Amino acid sequence: MEHYFLIKHLHMTFAGLSIVFFIVRAWWSVRESPHLQRRWVRIAPHIIDTGLLGLGIALMIMLSFWPHQHPWLAAKLLGLVLYILLGTIAIKRGRSPAGRAVAAILAVLVFVYIIGAAIRHHPLSWLA
Ligand code: HEM
Repeated sequence: MEHYFLIKHLHMTFAGLSIVFFIVRAWWSVRESPHLQRRWVRIAPHIIDTGLLGLGIALMIMLSFWPHQHPWLAAKLLGLVLYILLGTIAIKRGRSPAGRAVAAILAVLVFVYIIGAAIRHHPLSWLA
């Protein structure tokens, strides 16, 4: 338990890095900027999102919180899948700039939902 606060703060830091970097890349994607093709810009999100998930799993194990016992945790995991799927549409797969912008906005809303579910410990997120 002694590393709990460190891991929790690292998890939250990776969450912050993930959304800030996502918004920057989504902006570049909508503007069709060549920055998006840079090697480090393509690799960094994989490292950040793997860190976010890995630290989340570490917290789950340390606290013995499991998704089938805690619906807010299951909601977070589903939310993460949705955030990543919408993210790939916003950055890569969306055909038009407008379509990519809509996917980016939805991804940010899902992210805000996930933070609410984490803080309130409830699948209704901020509404709980
Ligand atoms: C975009 C994805 C995610 C975001 C934005 C996020 C955000 C957060 C935040 C802000 C907290 C601190 C809540 C508090 O104030 O107590 C937290 C805690 C936590 N997160 Fe995440 N998280 C994400 C993904 C995940 C995933 C995928 C898992 C599980 C595999 C996970 C497991 C946990 C656990 C177990 C805690 C500790 C809760 C507690 O101390 O009571 N998170 N998360």
